[in-house]
Amino acid sequence: MNEGPTTEARFLHRHLLGIEGLSPQEITLLLDRSEAYVEQNRQLDKKKSTLRGRTIINLFFEASTRTRTSFELAGKRLGGDVINMSVSDSSLKKGETLIDTAMTLNAMHPDVLCVRHPDSGAVKLLSEKVNCAVINGGDGAHEHPTQALLDALTIRRRTGRLSGLLVAISGDIMHSRVARSNIHLLNTMGTRVRVIAPKTLIPADIEHLGVQVFHDMTEGLTDCDIVMMLRLQTERMQGNFLPSNREYFRFFGLDYEKLANAAPNALIMHPGPMNRGVEIDSLVADDFGRSVIREQVEMGVAVRMACLEILTRNLGETAPSNL
Ligand code: CP
Repeated sequence: MNEGPTTEARFLHRHLLGIEGLSPQEITLLLDRSEAYVEQNRQLDKKKSTLRGRTIINLFFEASTRTRTSFELAGKRLGGDVINMSVSDSSLKKGETLIDTAMTLNAMHPDVLCVRHPDSGAVKLLSEKVNCAVINGGDGAHEHPTQALLDALTIRRRTGRLSGLLVAISGDIMHSRVARSNIHLLNTMGTRVRVIAPKTLIPADIEHLGVQVFHDMTEGLTDCDIVMMLRLQTERMQGNFLPSNREYFRFFGLDYEKLANAAPNALIMHPGPMNRGVEIDSLVADDFGRSVIREQVEMGVAVRMACLEILTRNLGETAPSNL
């Protein structure tokens, strides 16, 4: 799969709602731009004026540590004004709808809305009602595009490539927007993808996304270059999907014994938040020779800076108004 060159590539989308549909060149452009910000974020002076005069609103209807904080840092490091809207203190609590909230914020002329919502499709719906750019910070079990980009950046920096690698994504595939966005991105970039989970945690039609399905860790992890673990998203589960966390860890938790089936020095990834002792053993998670979980968080700021920069550049000089 062609990952470059990027000199002619342009990212002409108004919003970043998902990875599905992006070209290899567009993904590579976002990753290449993120690289520059990785270096900037390691300097003492991290501040630029790229987004001076721009307003970014973080609108998170679900809990977040990494995504919300890194969007805030990204916006501020680029010199923009960042507002974190607290949904629990907003008029949504008084019955205002998502769309009315979006249109209210839109009337204040923000340049970017970074939105997380528990319902798949809600962020796209919102993007159709506003003039500004919208970045999906995770919608239900649908997509989490900046997570997939930061995962790809982490892999590319560690291995020097994306194409030709074998990646296993293991855990609660059924409820995971991280899995979906990663599958789209990795397939687009020529990476082979396996998913590993109990039958109750894999959607019936997942093969249509171009992945190989395994229900056994020993088989699924064999020769994989990257092992990406996912937590059980109990907040999206209605009913019993598993006998117990203990049973789940025995068969699907990543420990050194299961990891031994992967390629030597296979990288260990997790988008966070982790549930130690459920989907991953603490020793494996903290094995800093192979675990790149902290690097993933670092890459998250750089990727979100690149996304904010590129999308605001697309908005042009004058904020459009069709209120
Ligand atoms: N990976 C991720 O989205 O983490 P947060 O829920 O903390 O943002």
